[in-house]
Amino acid sequence: MGKSTLVAALAMEAARRGMRPLVVELGHRASMEAVFGQGPIGYEPHDVGRGVSAMNLGVEGALADYVADNLRLGGFAKLILDNKALGRFLFAAPGVAEVVTLSKLKSLVEMRKADGKPYWHPIFVDLDATGHALMLLELPRVLDGLVGAGPLRRLLASVSDLLADSDRVILNLVTLPTELPVQETLELYENLDRQHRIQLGRLYVNQVPDEPLTYQALSVVDDLAEAGLRTGDRELSDDIALGRAALRRFSRVRDQLKRLATRVRIPLVELPRLTTGEVSLQDLQRLGRLAAGEAV
Ligand SMILES: Nc1ncnc2c1ncn2[C@@H]1O[C@H](COP(=O)(O)OP(=O)(O)OP(=O)(O)O)[C@@H](O)[C@H]1O
Ligand SMILES: [Mg+2]
Repeated sequence: MGKSTLVAALAMEAARRGMRPLVVELGHRASMEAVFGQGPIGYEPHDVGRGVSAMNLGVEGALADYVADNLRLGGFAKLILDNKALGRFLFAAPGVAEVVTLSKLKSLVEMRKADGKPYWHPIFVDLDATGHALMLLELPRVLDGLVGAGPLRRLLASVSDLLADSDRVILNLVTLPTELPVQETLELYENLDRQHRIQLGRLYVNQVPDEPLTYQALSVVDDLAEAGLRTGDRELSDDIALGRAALRRFSRVRDQLKRLATRVRIPLVELPRLTTGEVSLQDLQRLGRLAAGEAV
């Protein structure tokens, strides 16, 4: 759909505006390695060029940080995590992976420079498909699954507070202007909107094709088609058939955009299909500007 592409583009745009953005990729997808082409990206944030830093937030690293920061075991944390049996036990507990991941995000959000300003700003989290967004909705259920009042439960309460803080956390959605992604996005949006647990930002509709012809030009196409028929010019009629197919595709796209506009109450931002080939860093810069609402 373009989630990772958009995260990279928005981060580049933030850097261009003088901020210090961090891209956080959850799990081990390594999409940012391919986008920025700067070698492996690990658990520690690292400069990937264009003023952007990136990291992969894997559960193992987040769990190690959690143990080190909360269980007061200090240097023993790694030793304990290296013990496979204990690792399995911790992972098996409901919600542990989610809570330690959110806890790491919280500590990144709260990192400060010497002057007290946020160290990373903004932080773009590349949520992997709809599942990750739904994970946020599942937090109350996770809470019920955690027994007692131990550090994990306290932590969950504090990360829930962060997610609910509309000044600090915004969830943006990305979709494509075709039927199935739109359907899925509407369901997700309505679910999130109903739950009211997180501030929704914008809905980016990515890869909107250029309008092939204005509708006023349609009569011209009809005239051309007639001329083609009269003169028996095959090539002309082939071109016209192609043009009409593009127009039909575009009108289906328009229908999907209308469908979104009638049901979604957050701003819709249409983004163009930049290329049919590989997206370059220059393409990303342009996409970032458009996504941030700047005419280019
Ligand atoms: N506006 C665009 N114009 C042209 N190509 C694009 C655009 N947006 C994304 N792409 C291309 O589409 C493909 C999918 O994009 P991307 O990896 O960002 O999607 P994703 O939503 O992160 O996918 P996944 O769910 O697999 O993580 C990539 O090859 C990317 O370069
Ligand atoms: Mg992705």
